[in-house]
Amino acid sequence: MQFTLETTDPKSRARAGRLTTGHGTIETPIFMPVGTAGTVKAVHQRELRQDIGAQIILGNTYHLYLRPGLDTLYKAGGLHQFGGWDGPILTDSGGYQVFSLSDIRKITEEGVKFRSHIDGSKIDFTPEGVMDIQRIIGADIIMAFDECPPYPSDYEYARKSMELTHRWLKRCIERLDSTEPHYGYEQQLFPIVQGSTYSDLRQQSAEFIASQNRAGNAIGGLSVGEPAEEMYRITELVCGILPADKPRYLMGVGTPANILECIALGVDMFDCVMPTRNARNGMLFTTQGIINIRNEKWKQDFSPIDPGLSNYASSFYTKAYLRHLIHSKEMLGAQIASVHNLSFYLWLVGQAREQIKAGTFSAWKERIIPTLMQRL
Ligand code: GUN
Repeated sequence: MQFTLETTDPKSRARAGRLTTGHGTIETPIFMPVGTAGTVKAVHQRELRQDIGAQIILGNTYHLYLRPGLDTLYKAGGLHQFGGWDGPILTDSGGYQVFSLSDIRKITEEGVKFRSHIDGSKIDFTPEGVMDIQRIIGADIIMAFDECPPYPSDYEYARKSMELTHRWLKRCIERLDSTEPHYGYEQQLFPIVQGSTYSDLRQQSAEFIASQNRAGNAIGGLSVGEPAEEMYRITELVCGILPADKPRYLMGVGTPANILECIALGVDMFDCVMPTRNARNGMLFTTQGIINIRNEKWKQDFSPIDPGLSNYASSFYTKAYLRHLIHSKEMLGAQIASVHNLSFYLWLVGQAREQIKAGTFSAWKERIIPTLMQRL
């Protein structure tokens, strides 16, 4: 895996780069659509590639382990083959999802014990086990097994949790470095910085993560309810410590404004369920601002969903038609809205990249954020 920095913005810490994986090259900054259970909800793979311009998608260790399970994934030849996506895949390690989805869980030095949210069966996740699972899924980028502490966390909890995440990381590295990929292409581990909102813990964690010298690094434990200013403060601090010549991935972030602000702080990779989840509820991000397509206001608006985008779904279908579909709970409504919102997010990071390369990123960001975040 190779990361090449192409341009650094003179007025911020934004960068444009290229990350080469065994399934192709990703142009950064990039947004990665979330495909939790082996599908980006309501969007098929050809649309992801051709209409949306997705360059890499996410999968989830926790969900894929429960369903379809490792036996099926292995026999399929991995998730790329199973789902017909031949681009890069990153899998999250499952710790985060265990905390958000399963109500019965116990964290020990060894790992996490929990019950499946599907059938209640008992499951143990350890750093070693989670590396083995991600090898079988066949992810190009494997996330370390971590604990994401809730916000707010008291200092002692955050410190102990961070130290546990660091010990787990050592075990992840040992396991990954002593096993081989199953499908013939390389799989790289990204460790995750934790430390809640405490500057000294974040500094310690970032230094420890940086010292592991892996192909890329991630920032976790943010966008968990803290004010945006706190998220920016921690992101800035951590980006100042993580090596400049490796990609930086900010997990679970965020709104269009969050993404542009964090690109300015030196982040290269983002993922978030917001564009797909909000799409299914009728909330659309557009080049003109935010639309709640359910509103009466759009009932007879026969203009395109977003005249500022050139992809099929956003330029062909009208607001009035999409409003009708969402109101009627028609499946096509979720499909069109999801393709639209993802197209917008990929457009946004693509524009950011062009502006960085042109040396105009900072001024553009200041100009565009108020437009993108206004409610229409
Ligand atoms: N997704 C969003 N935040 C996190 C985090 O802190 N850890 C992991 N593993 N995934 C995340």
